Amino acid sequence: MSDDTYTHGHHDSVLRSHRWRTAENSCGYLLPRLTPGMRVLDVGCGPGTITRDLAALVAPGQAIGIDRAGDIVAQARAEGAEGVHFQQADVYRLPFGDDTFDVVHAHQLLQHLTRPVDALREMRRVAGAHGLVAARDSIYGSFRWSPDSPALEDWLDLYVAVTRRNDAEADAGRYLKAWAREAGFANVEYTSSTWTFANPETCRWWGDLWADRATSSDFASQAVDYGLADAARLGRIADGWRAWADDPDAALIILHGEVIASG
Ligand SMILES: C[S@@+](CC[C@H](N)C(=O)[O-])C[C@H]1O[C@@H](n2cnc3c(N)ncnc32)[C@H](O)[C@@H]1O
Repeated sequence: MSDDTYTHGHHDSVLRSHRWRTAENSCGYLLPRLTPGMRVLDVGCGPGTITRDLAALVAPGQAIGIDRAGDIVAQARAEGAEGVHFQQADVYRLPFGDDTFDVVHAHQLLQHLTRPVDALREMRRVAGAHGLVAARDSIYGSFRWSPDSPALEDWLDLYVAVTRRNDAEADAGRYLKAWAREAGFANVEYTSSTWTFANPETCRWWGDLWADRATSSDFASQAVDYGLADAARLGRIADGWRAWADDPDAALIILHGEVIASG
């Protein structure tokens, strides 16, 4: 397995966010391209909620989810579902032959890699000349919220600093078109979409999970280990997320870039 450092880890506060994801809320740009009978590979699948949706959308085809982390693969597998299979594997060395899949999909993976173009080349290999490679990543620098919050500005600064230490690109969504072209694809379609959280329930959910992530996830321990933050700063960030969620005017927009590439 590659030795890239994954910024988030798989603490419960992280998985609460990942488990909310569906094909509809996270890969709408890809859905019109899916047809029954397709073979889909979902790389960096995490707990596999999107993978399971993709399997249902291509039934009687099949979806395979792979992730570098064995513990999350075991969790994904435990959920089970028709037409879906999970295995531990690394995106840089996929254990599949050339031309194996109709669609190779990655949601929020490339932003965590030190070599995203190599990953796209490997995805292109297993998709082959006729397959599609689809990727969606957020653009952290464009996350905007209301009301203004110095604590959330500080969270964003710290998040970007931690990802830089991990040699990863927090603004990956901006670069997907360039990376796909560099990986050698002949056809590259680039689009964007947002997640918006603005009702009390979703703001509470998001604010609480990021408050917990700020103090208890791998992001928090990496920030401390790298000498970028201490417990007091992380505590202020967590308080900032909770205060934001409490505000009746709270709103948050998360911008993503998306690419569908082939050839
Ligand atoms: C942000 S999560 C996204 C999970 C899922 N795609 C989703 O959107 O819910 C990124 C996932 O990529 C996995 N990952 C990181 N580096 C990887 C690599 N080199 N190969 C495969 N998976 C990797 C992590 O373990 C993590 O589960």
